[in-house]
Amino acid sequence: MIRPILRFGDHDLQTPARPVAAITGEIQHLIDDMIETMYAAPGVGLAAPQVGVPLRLFVVDTSVGSNPRDLLVLVNPEFVEREGMQIEDEGCLSVPGFSANVARPARVVIRGLDRTGDVVSCEGAGLLARAFQHEMDHLDGRLFLDRLRGLKRHLIVRKIQKLKRTGKW
Ligand code: NI
Repeated sequence: MIRPILRFGDHDLQTPARPVAAITGEIQHLIDDMIETMYAAPGVGLAAPQVGVPLRLFVVDTSVGSNPRDLLVLVNPEFVEREGMQIEDEGCLSVPGFSANVARPARVVIRGLDRTGDVVSCEGAGLLARAFQHEMDHLDGRLFLDRLRGLKRHLIVRKIQKLKRTGKW
């Protein structure tokens, strides 16, 4: 089932998520819904807080469904390594219609549980490293807008506020 994606301005997006205590049937259901929601959007990643569930869990697929092996589900992920820096244009399903250059690590290794509860390590460079860091930020109640310099952030927020006033957000 496709779940509604919360948008910038929703308090749930700014709230740090708590660890998943156990991978229950309910969590499996949530994971399925998140994958479906990510592909429908379409997007390369989706974190549970974006669908209003304050748990440390995200899904990523840099191929957006074209390569099944690229689908990753990370539960209670943590960074093991982060190195280098890349600056690329970045957007977010919770901030539709906007993007900006964001500095991110060039390479990361994260460790967490997969959907079967096994411990997995995932290494990512380039877009995958960016996606990992972006989704980890969601779990900490942070959006890419929070990584921008004040003026750039202000300009986007002001445009969003204007959209809100006219009922378009
Ligand atoms: Ni996002």
